[in-house]
Amino acid sequence: MSLSIFSRKWAFNPARNLISALTFIVFLIFDFVDTILCVLYHYVDGFIEGQASPCYCQKREKQDKSSGDEYDKECELSETLYGRKNVFREMGFLGFGRKWENSQKSGGGEMVNRWSDCRCETCLSWLNDGEHKLHVFVREPSQATTKDWQGKSAENVIFLHGFLSSSRFWTETVFPNLSDPIKRNYRLFAVDLLGFGRSPKPRDCLYTLKDHLEMIEKCVIFPFQLNSFHLVAHSMGCVIAIALAEKHLKSVKSITLVAPPYFPSKDGGGLKVLEKLAAKRLWPPISFGSSVMSWYEHLGRCVCLFVCRNHRTWERILRLLTRKRDLHFMFMDFTRHTHHSAWHSMHNVICGGVESMENYLEFLSKAGVKICVVQGDQDQVIPLECSYNIKAKAPNAEVSIIKNANHSSVIVSREKEFTKFLERTWASLTHTGAGTEE
Ligand SMILES: *[C@@H]1O[C@H](CO)[C@@H](O)[C@H](O)[C@H]1NC(C)=O
Ligand SMILES: *[C@@H]1O[C@H](CO)[C@@H](O)[C@H](O)[C@H]1NC(C)=O
Repeated sequence: MSLSIFSRKWAFNPARNLISALTFIVFLIFDFVDTILCVLYHYVDGFIEGQASPCYCQKREKQDKSSGDEYDKECELSETLYGRKNVFREMGFLGFGRKWENSQKSGGGEMVNRWSDCRCETCLSWLNDGEHKLHVFVREPSQATTKDWQGKSAENVIFLHGFLSSSRFWTETVFPNLSDPIKRNYRLFAVDLLGFGRSPKPRDCLYTLKDHLEMIEKCVIFPFQLNSFHLVAHSMGCVIAIALAEKHLKSVKSITLVAPPYFPSKDGGGLKVLEKLAAKRLWPPISFGSSVMSWYEHLGRCVCLFVCRNHRTWERILRLLTRKRDLHFMFMDFTRHTHHSAWHSMHNVICGGVESMENYLEFLSKAGVKICVVQGDQDQVIPLECSYNIKAKAPNAEVSIIKNANHSSVIVSREKEFTKFLERTWASLTHTGAGTEE
């Protein structure tokens, strides 16, 4: 950038330039603080747990193909984990050794939470179960009590929630609004994704797309022997739903995607997704928050240490302030994760999933799978272009843009309409007439 262009711009738009200068300075400070925190956590972790947790502050080490499993594991990681730019890191500032291998070879400590994660009973309950099992809410069809039921096998639907959410995103909205025929004939599964809600939050897992898929197969598809199902997903869940549909093409009847984060990979892959979804901006607060949490591993860990580790305290305070016994489920779910699970899901699923999503969408479209896309025109998290990006890749997708609805209110403030929409979608593919409306 030449200086003369810079000064001309400065002359024409002082306000905007002041904001960009301020933004630049604030994030430069964050770069610095994150680097300092990296060292600090290194020592604190070492002191408390005997070994530092690995992070992504060092340059990615090239694994060669001969290392087998480790190579495969590396390939599933998003480029954004190592590719995030930090001025101080680039300069080799504070050259201290932290190696990827540390994480691979670390022996103890994996079956306990980090010291910086919550240790309340619900957050730790999964540790007593031995094997990791997702929390799955199953709503069985009530057909046994009605004479309509003629021994037909029930239709199945799997619901996948978005980032920092849980199965309650569906069980508190869609489930109470189902019509009677659907209640009788449909078996519904709402899953808490790995690392969220009441599901396990293992620290020896990198929350790749593959990890999420395998857990859903292990806890829903295989044990319930599902060989036919519909998929409904919100936000991050859409990436997982599309991968699941591709893997189980023969079983999938329809896919409903609400606010899917999809950008064509020709626009620049994972790093571009990170820049679009978490642009480094000071305003609005939601952008500021997501940029800090997505770009700064250690700053984000501090926020989680403050918010998630103490979620019970925050809930108590909020109950006092609002004088309500029951807090909104979205507030509760927002803190039910560890920094490790959220950080890796953000990068490995949302950013890293973009390329596989592209191939899968094309494949599903060619196979003629019904795809419905729903998004609010006021979505403040996922740009509206994403819905049209899907349409461009999968021309048979039906896109519905909802007026005056945002990222969550597209479902949460219009449960009835959304449920009706789902029922119509399913019924259009059911020849038994089981899904007809009241
Ligand atoms: C639909 O769900 C919402 C949220 O749970 C609930 O408040 C509302 O009463 C439900 N509507 C019907 C008709 O059950
Ligand atoms: C989304 O819309 C709902 C209802 O209109 C509103 O209560 C909520 O604050 C909005 N969320 C954001 C982040 O704007």
